[in-house]
Amino acid sequence: MKKLLLLLDSDPIPSVYDIFVGYDGGADAVVSYGGITPGNVGTLIDGAIFTRGPDEKKHMAIFIGGANMAAGEELLTAVTKHFFGHFRVSVMLDSNGSNTTAAASVAQIGKTMPLAGKKVVVLAGTGPVGLRAAALFAKAGAKVSLTSRGKKRAAAACQLIEARFGMSPIPLEAIDNDARRAAIQGADIVFAAGAIGVELLEERHWRDEWTIELIADCNAQPPLGIGGIEATDKGKTRQQKLAFGALGIGGLKLKLHRACIAQLFQSSDQVLDAEEIYALAKTMA
Ligand SMILES: NC(=O)c1ccc[n+]([C@@H]2O[C@H](COP(=O)([O-])OP(=O)(O)OC[C@H]3O[C@@H](n4cnc5c(N)ncnc54)[C@H](OP(=O)(O)O)[C@@H]3O)[C@@H](O)[C@H]2O)c1
Repeated sequence: MKKLLLLLDSDPIPSVYDIFVGYDGGADAVVSYGGITPGNVGTLIDGAIFTRGPDEKKHMAIFIGGANMAAGEELLTAVTKHFFGHFRVSVMLDSNGSNTTAAASVAQIGKTMPLAGKKVVVLAGTGPVGLRAAALFAKAGAKVSLTSRGKKRAAAACQLIEARFGMSPIPLEAIDNDARRAAIQGADIVFAAGAIGVELLEERHWRDEWTIELIADCNAQPPLGIGGIEATDKGKTRQQKLAFGALGIGGLKLKLHRACIAQLFQSSDQVLDAEEIYALAKTMA
């Protein structure tokens, strides 16, 4: 029986990356829709859950994407609420690669050092990747701060994390590179989750901060988020700190994303969100 992946994107145009990785993860067909909200998702779910018998439903799955983490979380709630009895299929949430990127990053960083008690600063942590990374660091016992150029956005991001995970990072306003330099003082780990092609720190901002043991960056497009490291860095020592660049993180992220898709097709009762994806990442890191 063909494996079908229903891709629901909160953005108007469904993500090409998510469609392609759907195939690479083992789907025989990926059917994608954009502009999906809790208000219009119901009939799409009906189309999936009423098509095949109970034993056949593991050959169908739902993937939720889009650039807005809160919208993704709302969609996941709407989708799972729509299920009843055996009228359900496995579902995965990964808005903008949030869960897979954060899980791959935190799992790899956690391999290099224990995270409990570490002071972690997530720079530009208001996007999907930063939100999930901050949450996973906090769940691992780290003391997490999260920066934004806007005080209200930093606070709103921390509230979103608290509502979902029950723990709140410290919100910090950091309007520019110099302010971000102040924000990382005393940190053990710096994790840059800024938008693509945006430099958050130059090398001079972090190289003399002796407390920093590890510095990581998710942005692969020049200028990189952290000056003075390379996108391919994967635990390379730079300025006496371990450095991870976006491609150093991205290898595991991609493998993890594919593995999650493959796992969706093993049964019809799974919900793959941050915790489940992080658990899988730890077995792969
Ligand atoms: N390595 C991988 O495998 C992988 C996979 C997926 C994504 N990524 C990368 O991960 C990063 C985070 O992704 P995302 O989707 O979470 O990011 P995003 O939502 O596009 O951006 C994250 C935050 O960056 C801040 N920002 C935007 N423009 C800025 C500017 N000019 N100066 C300073 N800060 C700015 C914004 O925060 P404020 O407005 O609150 O300041 C924004 O909320 C991206 O670089 C993405 O390309 C990497």
